Amino acid sequence: MSKHTIVVCDHIHEDGLNILQNTEDINYVYAADIDKTALLDVIKDADVAITRSSTDVDEKFLNAAINLKAVIRAGVGYDNVDMEGCSKRGIIAMNVPTANTIAAVELTMAHMLSCMRKFPYAHNQLKQDRIWKREDWYGNELYGKKLGVIGFGNIGHRVALRAKSFEMDVVTYDPYIPSTKATDLGIKYTTNFEDILACDIITIHTPKNQETIDMIGEEEISKMKDGVILINCARGGLYNEEALYNNLKSGKIAMAGIDVFKTEPATDHPLLDLNNVTVTAHLGANTKESQKKIATQAAENAIEAARGIAYPNA
Ligand code: MLT
Repeated sequence: MSKHTIVVCDHIHEDGLNILQNTEDINYVYAADIDKTALLDVIKDADVAITRSSTDVDEKFLNAAINLKAVIRAGVGYDNVDMEGCSKRGIIAMNVPTANTIAAVELTMAHMLSCMRKFPYAHNQLKQDRIWKREDWYGNELYGKKLGVIGFGNIGHRVALRAKSFEMDVVTYDPYIPSTKATDLGIKYTTNFEDILACDIITIHTPKNQETIDMIGEEEISKMKDGVILINCARGGLYNEEALYNNLKSGKIAMAGIDVFKTEPATDHPLLDLNNVTVTAHLGANTKESQKKIATQAAENAIEAARGIAYPNA
């Protein structure tokens, strides 16, 4: 029997790997731990590649992948995939669009709460410095605060609903939805971006593209309230990182909750030097529940694509 080769370029849950391993006509290659140059060598045999956001499916990758029929994104965003390059070469790209929604929503709420209660300070003071000084860290409540949600898709609208359950005053900006999608859920809808800039807390849930890169920069921040809190669990670079850093440093932005960076991994990023940020290493999709679902679906899609029989999310 001739076998199809599926190369797994990033770490995915073992349930997905088991499906690949136990499928007779699939030869699966685990390439998550090799460097980018070695990957270019491995990828030349691939019929299908499975990636998360750590692998750039760029010109170099596609040129090396001479047999590639499909790229399976084990997640939502295609911003690390050269979609034009894929379509020029007749390569299908598929994502797993909804499996990590809840994981991303809950991480957003975690960053929001962490910023409000000044967790980075409180945590470090007790754990690193062994100081017990309750009077140093008065936080704030989400209750009654105005939350601006940019992007009202799968993730944004669920963040808005959870914020409502905290009795926040929630307004969303998303020019791509009918206003009723928000208002039917009791969420205010605005077409005026300034309404978002006037909020106490702002969270962004858009894809990364030409329209959204640097959507919040120096000018937008200057219009915000002093002491605003910004959350980004979507994509690095939606907030201009230099403006974010400068305004966190000056205190104009009181706190930021940041899960994503323009360039990842971001182990040497200036934002990591600031105390008024909570940071995580692009963990939005990282729950066991979501990774299990994503890996299973990605593996099933990859097998179908390798056999050339179906493209469920094409
Ligand atoms: C996504 O686009 O769904 C995530 O960023 C995937 C990931 O965590 O790699």
